[in-house]
Amino acid sequence: MSRILGIETSCDETAAAIVVDGRHVESNVVASQDDVHRETGGVVPEIASRLHLRAIRPVVTRALEEAGRDWGDLDLVAVTHGPGLAGALLVGLNTAKALSYARGLPLLGVNHLEGHVYANWLVDQVEPRFPLVCLIVSGGHSDLVLMREHGEYARLGRTLDDAAGEAFDKAARMMGLGYPGGPAVQQAAEGGDPSRYTLPRAWLRPSWDFSFSGLKTAVLRTVREAGDGLVVADLAASFQEAVVDVLATKTIEAARDNGAQAIALAGGVAANLPLRARIQQLSAQELGDVPVLIPPVRLCTDNAAMIAAAAHFRFAEGATSPLDLDVFPVLPIA
Ligand code: KG4
Ligand code: ZN
Repeated sequence: MSRILGIETSCDETAAAIVVDGRHVESNVVASQDDVHRETGGVVPEIASRLHLRAIRPVVTRALEEAGRDWGDLDLVAVTHGPGLAGALLVGLNTAKALSYARGLPLLGVNHLEGHVYANWLVDQVEPRFPLVCLIVSGGHSDLVLMREHGEYARLGRTLDDAAGEAFDKAARMMGLGYPGGPAVQQAAEGGDPSRYTLPRAWLRPSWDFSFSGLKTAVLRTVREAGDGLVVADLAASFQEAVVDVLATKTIEAARDNGAQAIALAGGVAANLPLRARIQQLSAQELGDVPVLIPPVRLCTDNAAMIAAAAHFRFAEGATSPLDLDVFPVLPIA
């Protein structure tokens, strides 16, 4: 049995959670900085670090309180050490080191992207089976990954330019929608006509890579050309459909070509309802009974329960990190 404290500060959520055996969430506390970053329309790294510094101790204390646990109940302190914003990661990592040293608990650094994948172990759904194809789509990453075993990843494809979430955020800004852009675009697109504006899709076959910069430019051009005649709901719907089309279709093709026993979604963009629906629909059509695993929305966006879950499977194999562990702002999953 393992009871793990997870800590996550890689971007703009300060989070701490307690998870048992990589599957059972005892507490999952997330302090979001969205309200502050909304004013600047994006994350200002230095401000993010300062807000993490202010929030981290109360957030960790609350995670223990909500779980009804004490330090003596814990087996490990797990913390995101990359990828992410250096200054933001440092707050979580230094807090984790201090707690590990002071409380005599081992420390383990976790890759944030691996954390996103393990959100799929935190829900009562079918036990994920290998090999598994996982689409990790967040504000900083768009990776298509083949997972052969716990902790064993091969990257099939990645974005060549913007991440999917970044494309949502930038398109939202161009359309005058709020921050973060993903939920704002999804909401604006409801009832919009996705066929009103014709937008490009970068298929990049036969690779499993993605590209969203052409789409972004097309949105900008559409906004400029339409002027006052722009129908935001229709452009939001057209944009969302272009992104969902490529992500869903390529994920299904990758699953089929790699003999996947399961498909998993991960990362903030996996919160997108049309994306979830399309992948499920395509999978049922093309792959029959291969299960599609999708974490609930609150576990798709950044949280620390997913970090504790990923840590469990590595800790079970004996992995721990030294106290001189450093942050890695760039840290691929494979
Ligand atoms: O995983 P995450 O919380 O943070 C990173 O690791 O980047 O992902 C945040 C990204 C943002 O770009 C946000 O716009 C996007 O996820 N996102 C969405 C939705 N909810 C969040 N994108 C599309 N549809 C959504 N419903
Ligand atoms: Zn993330």
